[in-house]
Amino acid sequence: MTRIGIVAERPGESRVAATPTTVPKIIALGYEVVVETEAGAASSFPDAAFAAAGATIVDGDAAWSSPIVLKVEPPTRGEIDRLADGATLIGLLSPALRPDLVEALATRGITAIAMDAVPRISRAQSMDVLSSMANIAGYRAVVEAANEFGRFFTGQVTAAGKVPPAKVLVAGAGVAGLAAIGAASSLGAIVRATDPRPEVGDQVASIGGTYLPVDVVVEQSTDGYAKATSEAYDRRAAEIYSEQAADVDIIITTALIPGRAAPRLITEADVATMKPGSVIVDMAAAQGGNVAGSVAGERVVTANGVTILGYTDLAGRLPQQASQLYGTNLLNLLKLLTPGKDGALSLDFDDIVQRSVTVVRAGAVTWPPPPAQVSAAKPATPEPVGASSQTAKKPMSAAAKSGLIAAGIAALFLVCAFAPAPLPQHFLVLTLSVVVGFYVIGHVAHALHTPLMSVTNAISGIIVVGAMVQITAPSLAVQLLAALAVLLASINIFGGFAVTRRMLAMFSKGDAQ
Ligand code: NAI
Repeated sequence: MTRIGIVAERPGESRVAATPTTVPKIIALGYEVVVETEAGAASSFPDAAFAAAGATIVDGDAAWSSPIVLKVEPPTRGEIDRLADGATLIGLLSPALRPDLVEALATRGITAIAMDAVPRISRAQSMDVLSSMANIAGYRAVVEAANEFGRFFTGQVTAAGKVPPAKVLVAGAGVAGLAAIGAASSLGAIVRATDPRPEVGDQVASIGGTYLPVDVVVEQSTDGYAKATSEAYDRRAAEIYSEQAADVDIIITTALIPGRAAPRLITEADVATMKPGSVIVDMAAAQGGNVAGSVAGERVVTANGVTILGYTDLAGRLPQQASQLYGTNLLNLLKLLTPGKDGALSLDFDDIVQRSVTVVRAGAVTWPPPPAQVSAAKPATPEPVGASSQTAKKPMSAAAKSGLIAAGIAALFLVCAFAPAPLPQHFLVLTLSVVVGFYVIGHVAHALHTPLMSVTNAISGIIVVGAMVQITAPSLAVQLLAALAVLLASINIFGGFAVTRRMLAMFSKGDAQ
């Protein structure tokens, strides 16, 4: 049975790599779990709770000398020296930013697994620590802003007068941005959001925000992250930020392009136009900042009374929640690495997730991994600004439209005038259904296409039953129509099964979707 050590973090880091909820599940994978004394104290998980969950409480040396060590923060040089020869270390390692750390781990012959290198693909979502932490941080950014802001978020009509709602702008609607939009709108604020990826517009609207489109096409990436924006985009976005800065009370910036310094979105001039008492939370302060004047880890108050928060530990400010989600992400990775549930950790480099997270294998540097391709966004070819597309469908001319409508009315009249009863009534119902269906279904949001498919499948079921009743009718025409109805409705039903199967396959092991 392999021993897993949960070590205490440095003072100031409030999270811990396992919780009393995850410990029994790690033990169920065949491991023995030891926890360093007081490791969970800062996240309100006392040693007694770990002991009750099945862990053994040990001193630091015993935890660090375990064959597998679970951690949150990257280890220091001193901590690397405490690892046993050939040990496996799992934690946040920032391999792209810390080549020195990768080298030091390799020199010690360690196997190092970076939780922050989980690829952003559907199958790895349950291990995606960056998303878990960004979600918590986005929520906490709103709480921090509310704490600094001297007014309500929600509008109220009180006996002492009317209170307007606060206006919040969220720049960047990724994981952190969406969490911030949700939290701010549930507190009652008016929330607006920007993002170069127009497909987030529906998501922003679904959680109560208003998406401010920049109307300049941006190249999409295939790895689940945004690409650098063009100059034309940045120019138009800057105008929007200037307009918004003068209007809103709170700005939360989360704009990030992996591997680059954070894009500068809010300028000094924008901050200067904000009202005194306004608050900015720059979540990207650690990557250079989206906001002029923000300082990583600090609270700054400008000359015109705007508070800029550059906190870099927002997730850690909800330590119990952050440890719980981090611990669960880690547990899900352990499940992947322990297929036999026998306490034997194995690394399969044919698996894209395991390959991506492994930074050092038995002393050999394996970073960076080959890029993981996902189709989170359609790899679109950007269209030059202002150029008209050759391939775009031409809208129908007014004359053609009128001709089509006239032909339709004439056909309807002929059927009603000459067809035997009750065909005209049925035909009218069919025509009306087609028109109503066209407008209703045409306006269903993309996000609701899956439930729409279930409804059409249910309707297809009804059609099949109806057509089967009619198929024995004496008239050949009715029989033919009934057979055609069974065929078309069956295509919809079996097509539904095929689509469902394809969607499920996206989540199965070995598929990089
Ligand atoms: P994400 O990749 O999910 O979202 C980033 C979003 O920014 C994307 O939607 C992207 O399209 C957008 N974006 C890129 N360029 C932009 C531009 N020029 N203008 C507007 N939007 C733009 O990233 P996630 O996970 O939401 O993280 C966001 C930021 O929050 C990162 O900088 C991350 O490091 C930071 N973060 C900070 C924490 C803290 O304690 N301060 C904790 C967790 C995350």
